Amino acid sequence: MRFITSVLGMQRLAKRWRREGVEVGFVPTMGCLHEGHMSLVERARKLVGPKGRIVVSIYVNPAQFGPAEDFSKYPRELPRDTALCRAAKVDLLFAPKDHEIYPAPPDGTFGTYVVEETLSQGMEGASRPTHFRGVATIVAKLFNIVLPDTAVFGAKDFQQAAVVQGMVHDLNFPIRIVVAPTLREADGLAMSSRNRYLSPEERRQATVLWRGIQLARATTRRSQSGVSASKMRDQLVKFISDHPAARVDYIAFFDSVTLQPVDLLKPGTHMAMAVFIGRTRLIDNAKL
Ligand code: PAF
Repeated sequence: MRFITSVLGMQRLAKRWRREGVEVGFVPTMGCLHEGHMSLVERARKLVGPKGRIVVSIYVNPAQFGPAEDFSKYPRELPRDTALCRAAKVDLLFAPKDHEIYPAPPDGTFGTYVVEETLSQGMEGASRPTHFRGVATIVAKLFNIVLPDTAVFGAKDFQQAAVVQGMVHDLNFPIRIVVAPTLREADGLAMSSRNRYLSPEERRQATVLWRGIQLARATTRRSQSGVSASKMRDQLVKFISDHPAARVDYIAFFDSVTLQPVDLLKPGTHMAMAVFIGRTRLIDNAKL
């Protein structure tokens, strides 16, 4: 497995692969890899075939964290991540340095951001106002550096995947975006690098997100005429808040293409939520 930290080095190799007609599959990550990430790598491998190359990037992107968020304590485990990528037969690990991605004076400047203005507005975008500007900017930069044919994103970050798809469409990136299913622990908790912040008691209570989704799904599927979104939200807030470590940030019911809120839940409506478990903010989503 190759390991590259320089933007120029990555671009040179990416251009060479392009000249040689090598298909590149890309999995962008912030590291602290888990089985969920590795399932994206497997998916990318299937998509580009045995002759293709798989690139994983690891970069904890400061631009997508708000001032009060966990950027400085976000887990960084490059040696362990490198071993996992090697074992998964990743062809290239790209782990750029901050000063190359966001050059700062006196050596350089950075002043250009990508802002998606439609799909990014509600849910995560409402709770974390600069988050998607940071995500779209780093993803656009990584696409221009890695030059992938296909990029794989996890469905756990449903709105992120939609924003990236919107950006790729709007800005004509010649890249196929594939969204791969969320991997869950045996008790339903969606795999996430942030799960490791949870104490054992918080970890037990964290299953409330998945149980909340199941409750909404069962209620919706039982109903003949649809379920009121506001009633369902009230019921879920009560259900979740009965867990002492849990505090709801948002619960949203929406159309899975436009991401616009809906008032009446029917099978096929999408739901997403963000819940603090102690100080850890977890997200999850699913189709009802
Ligand atoms: O999903 C993530 O890990 C990040 O948001 C991404 C896509 C790597 C951009 O930093």
